[in-house]
Amino acid sequence: MKITFFGHSCFRLDFAGESILIDPFITGNPVCPVDVATASRGVKHVMISHGHDDHIGDAVAIAITNGATLTANYEICMWAAGKGVEKINPMNSGGSVDLGAFSVALTVAHHSSAGGGSPPIYLGNPHGIVISPKGGKPVYFSGDTDIFSDMALINEIYQPKIGILPIGDRFTMGGKVAALAARRFFNFDVVIPCHYGTFGLIDPDASKFVAGMAGAPQTIVKLPKPGESVEV
Ligand code: NI
Ligand code: MN
Repeated sequence: MKITFFGHSCFRLDFAGESILIDPFITGNPVCPVDVATASRGVKHVMISHGHDDHIGDAVAIAITNGATLTANYEICMWAAGKGVEKINPMNSGGSVDLGAFSVALTVAHHSSAGGGSPPIYLGNPHGIVISPKGGKPVYFSGDTDIFSDMALINEIYQPKIGILPIGDRFTMGGKVAALAARRFFNFDVVIPCHYGTFGLIDPDASKFVAGMAGAPQTIVKLPKPGESVEV
């Protein structure tokens, strides 16, 4: 699987002829080095973890342009359908859906999920996303969240081998706590931190996370720069 990081929490997964874009915050993302067309070329699935603007991003436009299927919680899917997205895959916490070459599950996250604007729009609960390729390594994208001990159940149920965790602090776990989550609750082969270095309110780098992962040498920490890909 090729995982491309576009900065903040935006990732593209390419495997087995599938291409999935998660939390496609591209327009207005100060560290994303590519435009929407480049990031979304060939993308057939768009997935959104929760309703904040730095995660919904360009999802609606990409889903419409590409005719892609939008996977998210029920409320975000209905909101997107109202904006013209035709292929929706509404889900909620604990649900799994078989999408052919892979299955997708939504997991609990401890965060919030209202859309931007004044007043904000209610957009359901925040989620993590587990993508399990048939015959491949499951990926756990936690979404914006604090640490929680039920991560142990997520590990037991889905056995993810690739982890993507936020580390920027203030709005999510910071690096030290995210490393504790990875060490205590998961057996990742590879972990990729995100939600840092995007703008001034959150931590500028992954040093605290990297230091915290020193106690787990069996897990490789990958730090792609925005625009870079890693093979996992
Ligand atoms: Ni958020
Ligand atoms: Mn966020």
